[in-house]
Amino acid sequence: MTSPSRPVAEIDAENLVLQGPKTFRVHGSVYTDEAVFREEMQRIYSSTWVFVAHESQLPHPGDYKTSHIGLQPVIVSRSEDGAVHVLFNRCVHRAAVVCRMDKGTANYFRCPYHGWVYGNDGRLTGISQRGGGYDDDFDAPEGLKRAARVESYRGLVFASLNPDVPPLTEHLGNARHWIDRQFDRSPEGSIDLRYAPHVSQYEGNWKFQAENTVDGYHGDHVHESFWMVQEQFGRESGTHGAYTQSSVRDIKKMRRQGQVMGFEGGHGLWNTPFDPAALDGLLAGPHADYYQTLLDRHGRDELLVMLSNINVYVFPNLGVLHGQLRVIRPMTVERTEVALYPFALSGAPDALNEERLAGYERFFGPSSFGSPDDVEIFALNQEGLQAGAVDWLILERGISREKVVDDVDRTSHVTDETPQRQFYRRWLRAMGASAVPDTVPEPLRAQARVAGAQA
Ligand code: FES
Ligand SMILES: [Fe+2]
Repeated sequence: MTSPSRPVAEIDAENLVLQGPKTFRVHGSVYTDEAVFREEMQRIYSSTWVFVAHESQLPHPGDYKTSHIGLQPVIVSRSEDGAVHVLFNRCVHRAAVVCRMDKGTANYFRCPYHGWVYGNDGRLTGISQRGGGYDDDFDAPEGLKRAARVESYRGLVFASLNPDVPPLTEHLGNARHWIDRQFDRSPEGSIDLRYAPHVSQYEGNWKFQAENTVDGYHGDHVHESFWMVQEQFGRESGTHGAYTQSSVRDIKKMRRQGQVMGFEGGHGLWNTPFDPAALDGLLAGPHADYYQTLLDRHGRDELLVMLSNINVYVFPNLGVLHGQLRVIRPMTVERTEVALYPFALSGAPDALNEERLAGYERFFGPSSFGSPDDVEIFALNQEGLQAGAVDWLILERGISREKVVDDVDRTSHVTDETPQRQFYRRWLRAMGASAVPDTVPEPLRAQARVAGAQA
C-alpha cells in the first residue's frame, strides 16, 4: 500500500480515484501530494475558466482589483474605454508585482522596483531613466502579459490561460440557472459587491472547501452550536441568513427535503426548499412591494425556487450562496485562502439588503456559527491525512440512489455525495485520466478492501 503522505512517483490520476457501480473513493495523496497540487495548478487552474472578479468591483474606468488564477497573481482592470483586462501582475522587467493593493482606482501602475510604468490597459508607457540606459532599438515588451481569454456571466468575470477553452456558458452548463435564480432576486437582475469581504486562510487543501460548499451531510454535526442557540432562542437569535423558521425541528425538516446536484462541468448544487406557506407572510410583510414585483415577474412556482436555499459551487474556485460570493484560492497543497464577499441585491430596498447582510454575518462572519466551524474541519481533515495507514476517503453516500438528469448531470438526496463525485469526475478529466474506468481494477479493489478492513 502507498501512504497518502508519500508522494506518488508519477501522477496517474485514474488510479487516485476508485470508481465502480457501488464504489467511489479518493486517495489521500490527492490532498497531500505536492506533485498532484502542481499538476492541478497546470491542468485545472491554467486550463479552464477561473473566477477573478465581479464587475461591480470595478464599476468605473481606472478601477481595478487584484486577484489570482491559481498561484498566478493578476490585476483585473477597467481601462478608459470601459474594457475589462486581466493582466498578469508581474513586471516585464524583472518580475516584481506591479500592484500591491487589493483594489483601487489608477490611471497607471508603476512597478515598485525600478519604476517602469503601465497604463490601466496593461500597455508599457514608460521606462524610468531610459535615455542612455537602453539602445534606441531596445526591444521593449508591449506591456503586462494578459490572460488568453476573458468572459463574464451576469457580472462574474472569469479568465482562462487556455486560448482554446470552450465558451464560458458551456463551462457553466446547467449550474448557471442556479446562479440566475440567486441574482434574479434583485429587481435589476444584478448584484453589487459593495461590502468588505471576510478573508481567512486554513491549513488544508483547497478541495476541502470546494467539496464542503455543496455538502448537505455535515450541517447537523459541524454546526451543532448553531442548532443549540436556535433551539434555545428561536427567532430571537436572528434569521441567520437562510434559516427563518423558528424551531430546529422545522428547519431540519425543510433541510432534509432538499436535493443536491452534480453538474457535468464538476460544479455542484445544494438546495433546500422554501416553505410555500411562508410566501403569504412575505407578501404582507415590510418588503411586500419587493416580493410582489418578483412574483409578477417570475410567477409563483419559480419564485418559490428562487427563495429556496441555494448553494452553488462553480469548478474550480467559486461559490455563489446565501448572498455571498465565495472565492477559493489555493496557496500550497495544504494552505488555502477563502474570501467571502457578501453582496447586495441591486434595486432591492436598503432595509432588505441590511437584513440579508446581518444574516450573512451571523452565519458566515468571523465570529459566527458557520464558516469558522467549517474551516476548522478542513484543518482537521488535513491533520487526519497524516495517518497514512488509511489510503482512501469514502465518497459513496447515495451512490445507488442518485439519478442522471439532462443526460449529463446527476441529482440525489440532499445528504448524498453526488456533487463531490461529479467534482472528481471532472477533476479526473482535467488531470488527464486517459480513461475513467467504469469498474474498479481488481488490484485497486483489493487495496480498498484492505483499507476498509483497517478502518
Ligand atoms: S522589476 Fe519592475 S521595473 Fe524592474
Ligand atoms: Fe458548513
